[in-house]
Amino acid sequence: MKSSVGVISSVGKFWRRNIMRFGVYEKVMPIETTPSRIVPDHIIRPDYISSNKVYSPKHPEIKDAEQIQGMRRSCKLASNVLLQVEKIIKPGVTTDDIDEFVHNKTIDAGAYPSPLHYMGFPKSVCTSVNNVAVHGIPDLRPLQNGDIINVDITVFFKGYHGDCSKTFLVGDVDNKGLELVGITEECLDMAIKLCGPGVPFCSIGNTISKYVKRRGFTVLPAFTGHGIGSYFHGPPDIYHSLNCYPGLMKPGMTFTIEPVISQGSELTVILEDGWTAVTEDSARAAQVEHTVLITEDGVDILTK
Ligand code: MF3
Ligand code: CO
Ligand code: CO
Repeated sequence: MKSSVGVISSVGKFWRRNIMRFGVYEKVMPIETTPSRIVPDHIIRPDYISSNKVYSPKHPEIKDAEQIQGMRRSCKLASNVLLQVEKIIKPGVTTDDIDEFVHNKTIDAGAYPSPLHYMGFPKSVCTSVNNVAVHGIPDLRPLQNGDIINVDITVFFKGYHGDCSKTFLVGDVDNKGLELVGITEECLDMAIKLCGPGVPFCSIGNTISKYVKRRGFTVLPAFTGHGIGSYFHGPPDIYHSLNCYPGLMKPGMTFTIEPVISQGSELTVILEDGWTAVTEDSARAAQVEHTVLITEDGVDILTK
C-alpha cells in the first residue's frame, strides 16, 4: 500500500488539494477515440492537406473588399455551426458525438472542418473539458453533469477560414465554474470593445490581464489569438497576457481574440498525444473566441 502512495503523480497531488479550492468537477484525461472522419471528394480542402506545409503571410494582411466578403461568409458559417452545437450539449453526449455533429454540419454546408489533419490533429473540432485548457481531442467520454466544455470550431469555406469557440455549461455547474466562464466572456467582450484602427495589438492582453488578476483568476499566457484568412494561423499574434507585442490595428485586418482563463496557476502541460493542453494544477480553464474585422471606424465581430 505504501508504494502505491509513492507513485501518485504531482498532478494527482495537486488535484487532491485543489478539489476544494477550485470547486466541484471531474478532472478529465484523454481516453479512447474513434478514427478520423472522412471528407467527401467534392469538398475543397485547405492547402495544408495536400502540401504538408502551412502557409501564412509574413506581415498582418490588409484584406480587400472581396477577401472581407470571403471572411464574412466563412465566419458566419462557423458561428452558425457553433450555435447549433449548443442544442446537443447535455450529460451523456460524448465529445466524439460533438465531433460527428460538427463534421457533418460543416460538410453539409459545403465547407471543410479546418482542424481535421491540420498539423496532424486527428479530429474535426476541438473539445476541451474542465481542466483541459485547449486542443482537446474528441473521444468517447460522455459529458457529465457539472462539466464545462469549450467547443472550438473552424471551417474552411470558399477559400477562407472562420474561427470561433464558446464554453458551454453541462447541467448544474458549481458557482466557481459559473464565475470562471462569466469572467472569460467578459474578457472577450472587453477586448473587442477596445479594438479599432490605430489601437496597439498589445492593449488587448494588457487590459485583459489586469482585469483577470483583479478578479482572482489567471490568463494562460501560452495561448494567443492570431491573424486569419486563406490561412488558419498568421500574424499578428494576439496576446491575452501582459505583453509589448508591436504594431497597430488597421482597417482590413482580420484576427481572432481567444482568451483562456484559469482558476489556478498559469502553467499548462501538453500530453503525449501532442495536442491536449491541460492545466498543471488541474484547475478548470475556460475559453471563448471570435474572429473580428478592423473597420474604418471600429470593429466588426465576424463570428457573431
Ligand atoms: N481553433 C484553434 C484556434 O483557435 C486551433 C485549433 S488547431 C487544431 O486557433 F489543430 F487543434 F485544430
Ligand atoms: Co479556434
Ligand atoms: Co483561433
